[in-house]
Amino acid sequence: MSMIALKPPMGWNSWNTFSGKISETLIKQTADYIVDNGYRDAGYTVVAIDDCWMAHERTPEGDLQPDKTKFPNGMKAVGDYLHSKGLLFGIYEDAGTMTCAGYPGSYGHERRDAQLFAEWGVDMLKYDFCYSAPGMEDRELYRRMGQALRETGRDIIFSGCWGNDGVWKWMRSCGAHMWRLTGDIADSWESIEKVGFGALGLEMYSGPCGWNDPDMLVVGLNGRGYVGEIGGGCNFEEYKSHFALWCMLSAPLLMGHDVRKTSSEIKALLQNKELIAINQDDAGIQAYRLPSTNDYITVLAKPLANGDIVFGLFNRQPVWTYMPVSWRCCGWELTDDISLTDVISGKDLGTFRAGNTFRVEGHSCLILRATRL
Ligand code: GLA
Repeated sequence: MSMIALKPPMGWNSWNTFSGKISETLIKQTADYIVDNGYRDAGYTVVAIDDCWMAHERTPEGDLQPDKTKFPNGMKAVGDYLHSKGLLFGIYEDAGTMTCAGYPGSYGHERRDAQLFAEWGVDMLKYDFCYSAPGMEDRELYRRMGQALRETGRDIIFSGCWGNDGVWKWMRSCGAHMWRLTGDIADSWESIEKVGFGALGLEMYSGPCGWNDPDMLVVGLNGRGYVGEIGGGCNFEEYKSHFALWCMLSAPLLMGHDVRKTSSEIKALLQNKELIAINQDDAGIQAYRLPSTNDYITVLAKPLANGDIVFGLFNRQPVWTYMPVSWRCCGWELTDDISLTDVISGKDLGTFRAGNTFRVEGHSCLILRATRL
């Protein structure tokens, strides 16, 4: 296995919209759309099938097998199709005796399952933690699959889920390339705020080859689909803040909406080159929080490999406010001349010293790329 996940993985996952309503047709249509509409070239290369792809029984030999009605040509055919389109193939399993939706888990079958995934051409495995085997430590279960994956010799991104406590402290040592910080995201501002800002303070654990994961994106769900119905939906400013926050956090960017039905506004947001470049920056530093007067105005700083610093001003209140930003604690002198660009509008805002104050709309954000002149 070589060094993989040097950058936060990007792609699409079936769960947030489709839960169990997945099929070969859906995956192929999604893959076609991702390629034909610029998502692949923007960096979204993984197409991941989440839970519910399996039959309820293993084969008599003990192999996992797909649900024949959903995937009549088997999983290798899906992988081959994705690879023929220049995409990567993601699949889902569970560290326990069953997946969260009740399909066969990998516990006790890790080597066989990892080998089968490698034969199918799997490039990313999301590994969940439901129905964990009694008496087994969470990390021991993840280590079993991490070991089995490395022994296949194939480069497979190992996406860990949750565990019994503090997965960020030990998941990297199990061989995982990313790990879920929280329970499931819902399509609501409250949920985005909870899981997204919940990642602050954990920046020391995230970096190249091992990323903090505040869960998949709900951008563009608009209250539709599985997680959409749970949360009820967000407005555009809220989706904008959600996406920008995930970029600031160096979080994996796994879209979760029905890409076949995307508005041009949402598509432009998800394909914003400058935001994606911040997420995928070579330094791989997760944003840290700057001191602020209250919790509802959160200012983040993300240092980039070329010496720029990106400031994220997040107004978590429902109404507009003025937000101060100062680069006093970021390594710059107060006398430095700093030029600021509004990343989302592309507007050059001019040159500033020490800091400034900006108006930010409710539940919205301002992402400022700062360069020392
Ligand atoms: C858990 C995970 C979700 C999804 C479902 C599938 O809840 O956290 O992301 O994979 O299982 O059953």
